[in-house]
Amino acid sequence: MQVASDGVTVPTSFAMARPHDAEMQYTSVMDDLLDGRRQELTHFGEPARFDIRMFPLLTAECPSGVLIDPNTYALRQVVAEIGLQFKRETRYDLGPFDPSNPDYQGVLINSERFSATFPIAAGAAGFSREDDTWWMDWVWVHPYERGTGLFRQAWNEMEQLYGLFHIDGPYSASMSTFLRARQIDPNRLNHPLHDDRRD
Ligand SMILES: CC(C)(COP(=O)(O)OP(=O)(O)OC[C@H]1O[C@@H](n2cnc3c(N)ncnc32)[C@H](O)[C@@H]1OP(=O)(O)O)[C@@H](O)C(=O)NCCC(=O)NCCS
Repeated sequence: MQVASDGVTVPTSFAMARPHDAEMQYTSVMDDLLDGRRQELTHFGEPARFDIRMFPLLTAECPSGVLIDPNTYALRQVVAEIGLQFKRETRYDLGPFDPSNPDYQGVLINSERFSATFPIAAGAAGFSREDDTWWMDWVWVHPYERGTGLFRQAWNEMEQLYGLFHIDGPYSASMSTFLRARQIDPNRLNHPLHDDRRD
């Protein structure tokens, strides 16, 4: 038995288990380090900008196809968020999708992999009009959904909405393969297609 400074009698085995000074110092250094890192993490925003996200659309109805019409400001904000993910991934030099600018139009692409009673946006495309021509400025599909034909389906529906729209480049390798395979009229393009199949 050992008598502690506050007069409490502690069994010797417990007394020996008390953290050593060096251990306590180490714990306090770790706490400081973690506090600093938590502080640093806040600079990545909430949710952190390194996350790749899908967006549950609780106020929207599930579409009959894969495209969702972003017909409210909140849904247009989702298009803008997905546009940011496109920019982060491709580092293309492109202005942000401005949800309050009616010159920018967009579509949301519903997830095929995750289904719910509400749509879950797994992708989007941005469109703008120049004279009489619609341009698809960008398109992005969440990596979980890629390679499953989701974009092919979205493309068919986009052509129903926007006709034979033009496609703004430069084109990623996967987009180039798609445009080649689809034999898209070169008059609809403004950049050469990518040679390499890798993105
Ligand atoms: C381009 C992108 C939208 C394609 O979406 P997706 O849903 O994976 O495409 P799909 O599964 O519908 O594939 C359709 C066709 O695209 C081409 N394709 C898609 N991914 C490809 C890849 N990784 N490599 C080569 N071709 C690819 C193929 O021709 C494919 O047809 P196939 O399956 O019969 O070979 C998607 O890869 C993406 O968002 N990439 C990052 C952003 C980007 O590159 N945007 C375009 C900028 S120009």
